[in-house]
Amino acid sequence: MRLAARITGVGAYLPDRILTNADFERMVETDDAWIVERTGIRERHIAAGHETTSTMGAEAARRALVTAGIEATDLDLIVTGTCTPDGLFPAAATLIQHQIGATHAGTFDVNAACTGFLSAFSVATNFIAAGQAERALVVGAETLSRIVDWTDRGTCVLFGDGAGAVVVERAPEGERGGVDAMVLRADGAQAPLLYSQGPCSADALSHEAKIIMDGRNVFRHAVTAMADASSEALRRAGLTADDLALAVPHQANLRIITAVADRLGMPMERVFVNVDRTGNTSSATIPIALAEAVAGGRLAAGDRVLLTAFGGGLTWGALVLEWAGVRVPAAVRMPTGALVASPSA
Ligand code: ACO
Repeated sequence: MRLAARITGVGAYLPDRILTNADFERMVETDDAWIVERTGIRERHIAAGHETTSTMGAEAARRALVTAGIEATDLDLIVTGTCTPDGLFPAAATLIQHQIGATHAGTFDVNAACTGFLSAFSVATNFIAAGQAERALVVGAETLSRIVDWTDRGTCVLFGDGAGAVVVERAPEGERGGVDAMVLRADGAQAPLLYSQGPCSADALSHEAKIIMDGRNVFRHAVTAMADASSEALRRAGLTADDLALAVPHQANLRIITAVADRLGMPMERVFVNVDRTGNTSSATIPIALAEAVAGGRLAAGDRVLLTAFGGGLTWGALVLEWAGVRVPAAVRMPTGALVASPSA
């Protein structure tokens, strides 16, 4: 069933500090050529000491509210997808609610690792379609630099920090915009392939959260899972890859993205890629990419868009949307990437 909930605002925030592949050459035994060839990543942003998932999420949220033309007080729901909240509680969404002054919003986080944004978005759009909310903010924000093992060359080069946000509102009957189909899946049996222990692990000594990953097997599962979920979402929507104006996949690795596009029969000109500049920001990759796609003029009202993600757990999913069109006010109408860097309006 089509959900009458549409994206009306987008925003993103990336921290100022950039870590290049050359920087990693001084930290672990690696080199730029290896990282670029295996991952497509050239640089990633790293949060400053005072920045957290909620502060970055709040900045992305402020920008999304500007493009939606609404106030924080208009929101009745904030859902944040994150696996690196500021603390175990309050939820990052609750801290964001306070920072942006969304005094009428309920809040909670969704943790589905890198599938966090898709999962949070699914919850918010279903709230709206069910009439339980009118205007929701969905944030994907991560401070992965705080759980990266900086001595493990197999993982530390992959991840970055950042935040993206979208405003979702009810789509009036007969108007453009809505969710055509969504598919969410998980296989907890595969958790050992990609996980992080936390302060509540059974082993009480494991207080330090670190990303642990079997890269080769994660790669294999990621390609199959995203391609299958995308095909299923397209089938449920009654569409094919030819109907898509743009695919916005989770940005983990360029080789994964091209392999998924290949399986779907999507030419790369219609696949959004910014992993070279951001690395893998987990739940934040898709909303950051959406904000950049809007700023770069790559989405028009009526376009069909595919979002697909894969993450630890394992979790994965795909959504097909009809794009409603997001107005970007002059203050934030800039070339690709600039929306991300613009000061909060
Ligand atoms: N620099 C140089 N050499 C390296 C590095 C590095 N940074 N990392 C690993 N190597 C070495 C390994 O030690 C290994 O050496 P060996 O042959 O002497 O043992 C060799 O490179 C090959 O290692 P593989 O792991 O087999 O390399 P692979 O081609 O699989 O690439 C990579 C590794 C990039 C991690 C790849 O498997 C991958 O991208 N997997 C998916 C990871 C991912 O995207 N995870 C997140 C998805 S979900 C989410 O977003 C949370």
